[in-house]
Amino acid sequence: MDSYITGAVIRRLRESKKMTQEELAERIYVSSKAVSKWETGQGFPDISLLEPLAKALDISVIELLSGEDVRNRNRASNITKVKYYICPVCGNVIQAIGEAVVSCCGITLPPAEPEETDADHCMRVETVEDEYYVTVEHPMERDHHISFLAAVSDQGIQFAKLYPEGNAEARFKINRVKRLYAYCNKHGLFQCDPRRSYY
Ligand SMILES: [Fe+2]
Repeated sequence: MDSYITGAVIRRLRESKKMTQEELAERIYVSSKAVSKWETGQGFPDISLLEPLAKALDISVIELLSGEDVRNRNRASNITKVKYYICPVCGNVIQAIGEAVVSCCGITLPPAEPEETDADHCMRVETVEDEYYVTVEHPMERDHHISFLAAVSDQGIQFAKLYPEGNAEARFKINRVKRLYAYCNKHGLFQCDPRRSYY
């Protein structure tokens, strides 16, 4: 948990539900004065109230704590706008095709911002029959390596986990792949268009 819920968040969420302080108070069995105090920064709801509070505001506890209503309203969201959340502690990789609040090892993870590939993280793409053979000329040492490669099309995500001492390479079905991603544990996430990366 990065921070505890703030009064401003409670107020915003309550108002977005068109609820009065009294109505919210009633739902979670506290006094309206208590709600008023939270909202004006004179106190915090007890941790035991987080669940009922989240329920009353119709969001999840994690959304409540992050201060955001992250429900994905754009249900037709484009899968090619996939987001990667990478845990700096355990190396876990979580992919989402919409907005999400993602926590791992007690840290709320921001989505990794992909950069266009640079000279040190250039993805070379060869077409072998119906597959892209992707290689990155990059160290594969424990403290500096490519830890995954991914290929994203409008139909799905292909993902290859890589390990130090292995090769920085993967094969992906070409099938309408629009974006390739490579993640370097030291330099972050890179992306490129496979159709512009032939050599
Ligand atoms: Fe790197």
